[in-house]
Amino acid sequence: MNTTTLHLLTASLLLLLSCATHVFSVTPCPPCGNTTVPFPLSTTPTCGDPLYKIQCTASGSLVFNTVNNSYPIQSINPKTQRFIIQPASIIPKTCTTTDKIHQGIILNNTLPFNITSSNTIVYLNCTRTLLLSPLNCSAASACHAYINATDSISACQTGPVCCTYRTGGSSNSYQIRVRDSGCSAYSSFVNLDTGLSVNRWSRPGLEIQWLSPRETVCVSQKDCDSATSTCGVDDSSVNGIKRCFCNGELVWDPIQGVCTKKITCFNPDGCDSSNKTAIIAGTTCGVGAALILATVAFLLYKRNKRILEAQQRLAKEREGILNASGGGKAAKLFTGKEIKKATNDFSADRLLGVGGYGEVYKGVLSDGTNVLSL
Ligand SMILES: *[C@@H]1O[C@H](CO)[C@@H](O)[C@H](O)[C@H]1NC(C)=O
Ligand SMILES: *[C@@H]1O[C@H](CO)[C@@H](O)[C@H](O)[C@H]1NC(C)=O
Ligand SMILES: *[C@@H]1O[C@H](CO)[C@@H](O)[C@H](O)[C@H]1NC(C)=O
Ligand SMILES: *[C@@H]1O[C@H](CO)[C@@H](O)[C@H](O)[C@H]1NC(C)=O
Ligand SMILES: *[C@@H]1O[C@H](CO)[C@@H](O)[C@H](O)[C@H]1NC(C)=O
Ligand SMILES: *[C@@H]1O[C@H](CO)[C@@H](O)[C@H](O)[C@H]1NC(C)=O
Ligand SMILES: *[C@@H]1O[C@H](CO)[C@@H](O)[C@H](O)[C@H]1NC(C)=O
Repeated sequence: MNTTTLHLLTASLLLLLSCATHVFSVTPCPPCGNTTVPFPLSTTPTCGDPLYKIQCTASGSLVFNTVNNSYPIQSINPKTQRFIIQPASIIPKTCTTTDKIHQGIILNNTLPFNITSSNTIVYLNCTRTLLLSPLNCSAASACHAYINATDSISACQTGPVCCTYRTGGSSNSYQIRVRDSGCSAYSSFVNLDTGLSVNRWSRPGLEIQWLSPRETVCVSQKDCDSATSTCGVDDSSVNGIKRCFCNGELVWDPIQGVCTKKITCFNPDGCDSSNKTAIIAGTTCGVGAALILATVAFLLYKRNKRILEAQQRLAKEREGILNASGGGKAAKLFTGKEIKKATNDFSADRLLGVGGYGEVYKGVLSDGTNVLSL
């Protein structure tokens, strides 16, 4: 194989490899039941970004795991990077939510999820200490109207205090706490207008957002796709971790989790550039590698054909020369195998001598003819 073909083969292999890692990093998860799972959400360690783990149950529904508990996911909005979970229900004939044993909703604050500021929390059956809190626990608080209008929580009417508040303070972006020393029950409503009468409130839900995935963490350059990124220290981190930062003009696309060219969108109706960049990258990789492989295959084919033709031509010419000079008996060209057999595998007792042509062997062919092998 000559150097050009070798180079081309190497290039196509590298391209295929980089395509493989590229495709891997953008692999979204398969649908769970009939709900699509957008990147970076991850239902198995091999799809999405494993840091953004959610669960797909055997019955085909998505579940969000908190520290000690889990909640069904009602809906996902990949554009705003948010999803809505269904809060715990209130145990019938009590004013206690089923997740009180887990202290309510507690998110792991080292994971890239937090509670958005779009939720209105109604706290029920609270102790009087809550009156000192910044929450709205006044007689006019919307929680009273909610209790009055909701038959299933009539047990909450006896609770001493109820409160309402909007999420968004840093102290509650990872938890909705439920406990004896605070409140024993809660419900949550997304984008609630507390001025509306309760029968027009949407069903309970708690909105969670996921943070844009950062560049992939690396230890050395071999963890990064060298064609698009370089392993470097992340200045924004305290512990000096390294990340695969995008090279030159390329920019980090957190939706797809890859370094891509910045695509300016001229469509006034909006562009779904996220899908486009992935498709463009994927197509370029696939078509590029296929073209190079086809070229290599063609070059190899042409080269082999040329060699074969040259050998056949040479053999013909030699037979022609031998036939012309040999009187009577037709000369024949022998293959290496025939010669090997005739000379008893080039054995030493058939060695006639060593001369200018190399070693000279005496051999006997299967038809009894003596031959010399040079
Ligand atoms: C989605 O799931 C529901 C219930 O699980 C089923 O009734 C419905 O037919 C499914 N829709 C599609 C499009 O598969
Ligand atoms: C939070 O998440 C990190 C990373 O997955 C894990 O190591 C840690 O144990 C979790 N903490 C709790 C309290 O679950
Ligand atoms: C209200 O909360 C207290 C704990 O603070 C609990 O003992 C009581 O059972 C709760 N009330 C109802 C009706 O569930
Ligand atoms: C979660 O469960 C562990 C083990 O049972 C327990 O130690 C921990 O306090 C629980 N955390 C919360 C927030 O309930
Ligand atoms: C509590 O909420 C009610 C109803 O939304 C509102 O009228 C009242 O001013 C609020 N009180 C405080 C202290 O924020
Ligand atoms: C709730 O009902 C109680 C008693 O029925 C009533 O006194 C109170 O005004 C009602 N509160 C609201 C906000 O509707
Ligand atoms: C959630 O985290 C993001 C990014 O750190 C931050 O901008 C946002 O304010 C947080 N949300 C809340 C409610 O704290």
